[in-house]
Amino acid sequence: MNILIAYYSRSGHTAELTLLIAEALVSEGHTVDFEKIEPVEVDKRWPILWRTQWYWGALALGIVSNKYQQYFLENYKIPEVDIKPLVHPDVSKYDRICIGSPKQTIVPCVIERYLRQLEGLKDKKVGYFATWAGPPLKHFEVEHLFRPAADRLERRGAKLVSILGLSSIYHEYCIMFIFRFFSRLRFSLPIEEFSVYSEYGKKNKKLFCDELIRGELDIKESKGWKRSFDGPGIPGVATASAMTTLQFVRRLFVRYGKNKT
Ligand SMILES: Cc1cc2nc3c(=O)[nH]c(=O)nc-3n(C[C@H](O)[C@H](O)[C@H](O)COP(=O)(O)O)c2cc1C
Repeated sequence: MNILIAYYSRSGHTAELTLLIAEALVSEGHTVDFEKIEPVEVDKRWPILWRTQWYWGALALGIVSNKYQQYFLENYKIPEVDIKPLVHPDVSKYDRICIGSPKQTIVPCVIERYLRQLEGLKDKKVGYFATWAGPPLKHFEVEHLFRPAADRLERRGAKLVSILGLSSIYHEYCIMFIFRFFSRLRFSLPIEEFSVYSEYGKKNKKLFCDELIRGELDIKESKGWKRSFDGPGIPGVATASAMTTLQFVRRLFVRYGKNKT
């Protein structure tokens, strides 16, 4: 098959995953072209957060009410930023389209513009892969990125058939400890278990490519992101807190030890 991989990467992690996915597809005998999506002006650190200011209040409300979350994700207008001219502005000649981006609270503003201006999307089967800092929390990471992406593709006549979200174990705002905590809390596993190079990462990368090629799934229809309420309870919270704190202290010791030698 003839596949276009269009990707946006602010700090290089999604670009790394892009190459791994391309490698996997090429090794299966497919042809891959790339589109590097770039903003005209690269945002400084804080303005990106400011652009999506309304999201943060909605996030809190969405935790309390799933109904509200659904309403919000359906109606929230993601701001756009100008992007550089595309090498492949029309994708009608491709059998499959693959879009890659980081999760930037929701679909990045760069991708919002890309999806709106892209030509030839009608009847296309699309895969969306992402790197993010956290574990694959359905309510937060998975649903907040892939549900708006599926909606937008549907509006353009395309179908989301495959999704992949892996942790880069990196967050520009130095808040990885929060994601480490949630990984322990929800999955009782360290965040490393969900990274690009973990067994989970390798298995899901393969699944992503297989589903993209088969093109049979309808992610929007199957609600692959749907929230589950099986919370960990107080013992889970206590264990996760203890493990995260221990890991933090261990890191301090390692760093202090290194500085001494
Ligand atoms: C503005 C902004 C918002 C982000 N929001 C999230 C988030 O909601 N969840 C998450 O797990 N990571 C979040 N991240 C972290 C990135 O998704 C993560 O670092 C990603 O791997 C970066 O990919 P890149 O190197 O390709 O840009 C955010 C980063 C930025 C800059």
